[in-house]
Amino acid sequence: MENKATMDKLTSLCKRRGFIFQSSEIYGGLASAWDYGPLGIELKNRIQRLWWKEMTQLHDNIVGIDAAIMMHPRVWEASGHVTNFTDPLVDCKGCKQRFREDQLPEENRASKKCPNCGGQLTEPRMFNLMFKTHIGPVEEDASIVYLRPETAQGIYVNFKNVCNTSRLKIPFGIAQVGKAFRNEITTKNFIFRTCEFEQMEMQFFIKPDQDDRWFEFWKKERLAYYAKLGIRPERLRFHEHGPNELAFYAKKAFDIEYEFPFGWNEIEGIHNRTDYDLTQHTEFSGKDLRYLDEVNNERYIPYIIETSAGLTRQVLVVLSDAYDEDEAQGENRVVMRLHPAVAPITAGVFPLVKKDGLAELAQKIEKELREEFTTFYDQGGAIGRRYRRQDEIGTPFGLTVDYETKENGTVTLRFRDSMEQVRIKIDEIVPRIKKEIKDYRRPS
Ligand code: GAP
Repeated sequence: MENKATMDKLTSLCKRRGFIFQSSEIYGGLASAWDYGPLGIELKNRIQRLWWKEMTQLHDNIVGIDAAIMMHPRVWEASGHVTNFTDPLVDCKGCKQRFREDQLPEENRASKKCPNCGGQLTEPRMFNLMFKTHIGPVEEDASIVYLRPETAQGIYVNFKNVCNTSRLKIPFGIAQVGKAFRNEITTKNFIFRTCEFEQMEMQFFIKPDQDDRWFEFWKKERLAYYAKLGIRPERLRFHEHGPNELAFYAKKAFDIEYEFPFGWNEIEGIHNRTDYDLTQHTEFSGKDLRYLDEVNNERYIPYIIETSAGLTRQVLVVLSDAYDEDEAQGENRVVMRLHPAVAPITAGVFPLVKKDGLAELAQKIEKELREEFTTFYDQGGAIGRRYRRQDEIGTPFGLTVDYETKENGTVTLRFRDSMEQVRIKIDEIVPRIKKEIKDYRRPS
């Protein structure tokens, strides 16, 4: 299917309809920071809940935690971030623009000429991506703390706590969702790469000799998840990291990539981190982090298979994938074909006209539905307009109350994607919508 989304269209729709706003806009905005509006937070929360259910509720032996963003500074020495979490920076002596050397086209890297103006580039300088701050009033080395650049470390340092309290046996996983911060040099493409973002990570602890098997298992599982999110399979692919791309801690890594309007890009990483992290934390903390296998009476440091997804990046995937334009009754319409499970509003409720008690009846129906779904009541303007307003924000179902409703207790149920309408009884609304959400198939 042709991709009708462009970043300009998405950014403007998100702002116009209250999904995502530029941060601190009234002060001219803060580059690369974004605020989630009333519809954006509903969408983000739903994606997060879907991931959480997928990773914890639907899998044996996976539990969640929520660790602090600020951790002991030694964590980041042990993890390797203080030394290795760096990007090579180059500046153009002519136009003063700054680039990541590893992201420059090959010819610019070789000639050391700016891709923007052809000017001379400086030698690369290594730049650490962690945000540093201080706890307490004195800015001295002893009070340094970092804003975590990944949620993973909060899981590793709690490995023993979870083992001791939950009686889990290897293989088992720990999941976490939360904010992460990176002082990114190049932030662009709306919410794709930002300095403050959210991750959804799961660390799966296994016996060392089982790593290939579990790596393959998680690759399959994670790709299947995107179908549940309603993402078109032809816009997803794997990319295996070559030796030059592998992170310092990884033995093997695959990215799941999505075809954004600006090209194929990483949305999630699946990494075999071996015993690197727990070995490092054992060494730096002096605590024994080995797992005791009671059956075989042996102790070992488990290997970790990590699945690491960006929540805020997934919001962009969902929005890009949903955006569509078509024609409705001779008029062009913008329609967000969001999966109903993540759509910010599940059902719009509309009285055909305000008079003759139809508005009151529609309001009553809408109130009753609130227990089950997020709803939106709209009585303003022509009915076609009202449908179109909901199509544009991805509301999958519309319920229209008309004179027949008063006579026989039925309403019109309208489907966003096909624009088809059927009549159903008021007491069938809830089970019907639930079934439609469960059976949802995106039109091809
Ligand atoms: N714990 C491993 C880890 O953090 P990563 O590949 O650096 O691995 C994982 O990040 C995911 O986090 C990425 O696939 C992406 O979805 C998201 N992510 C990373 N940096 C980001 C940024 N600056 N802005 C938005 N999302 C980001």
